[in-house]
Amino acid sequence: MLVIDTISELQKVLVDERSKGKCIGLVPTMGALHQGHASLVRRSVAENDITVVSIFLNPTQFNDPKDLERYPRTLEEDCRILEECGAQIAFAPCVKEMYPEPDTRQFSYPPTDVVMEGARRPGHFNGVCQIVSKLFQITDPDNAYFGEKDYQQIAVICRMVEDLGFKVNIIPCPVIREESGLAMSSRNTLLTPEEKEIAPKIYQILKQSTTLQLSIAETQKWVIDEINKVEGLDVEYYSIVDGNTLADINNWEDAPNVVGCITVYCGKTPIRLIDHIRYK
Ligand code: PAF
Repeated sequence: MLVIDTISELQKVLVDERSKGKCIGLVPTMGALHQGHASLVRRSVAENDITVVSIFLNPTQFNDPKDLERYPRTLEEDCRILEECGAQIAFAPCVKEMYPEPDTRQFSYPPTDVVMEGARRPGHFNGVCQIVSKLFQITDPDNAYFGEKDYQQIAVICRMVEDLGFKVNIIPCPVIREESGLAMSSRNTLLTPEEKEIAPKIYQILKQSTTLQLSIAETQKWVIDEINKVEGLDVEYYSIVDGNTLADINNWEDAPNVVGCITVYCGKTPIRLIDHIRYK
């Protein structure tokens, strides 16, 4: 596997591969790779001739500097996982390489980027669009793979791709869960053993909520109440929305796809965990 840290070197390699008619898959990551990322990389390797995995802890999408500081950095182990998955290229640039000048571009795709995470993490999705659009411009991939764990992020990126006319196919990939049901996340490594015991309750309660015969408002309230009853868990929001536009809905019949998206604070630090469940 090639490990490349400059844009010019990456583009040189990719221009060469493209001229041979090779199909390119991109898996954007911020490192601290786990089996969820590995599943994206394996899928890209199976569906493309060349898989590029970017490893870049993008500062512009962090609205909380403490969150950025705490984020795990594990480049050596990341490269080992990528080798094992069969990726051809790891692209691990430094911040100056990606942002020689501050990125002042503004992206706006309401309602997808202003509800839920967008409302609580100002600038987060703008930062995601800045880095993902740069990665698309640099690598010009045929296919790009994103985990459905960040359900809202995929909706925002799809709007950006449509808006800017990128030719890439966005491939959403299913959430990979620990045996306990907890959605895999780089942040899980920050959980204490006690927190790891209670965090799986989030998904258990979400799953249980799909069996209730309640209205949307009642289901939202039930989920929030049940999770808040667990000591150490504190729901920030639970929204049941149109699965495509992410707009709020009042009735189950209001949209063809209906998804519940949740963010929960876990433990004393606390660690912010996100998850979602599909109702239809
Ligand atoms: O999902 C992530 O890890 C990041 O938001 C992404 C897409 C790699 C952009 O930095």
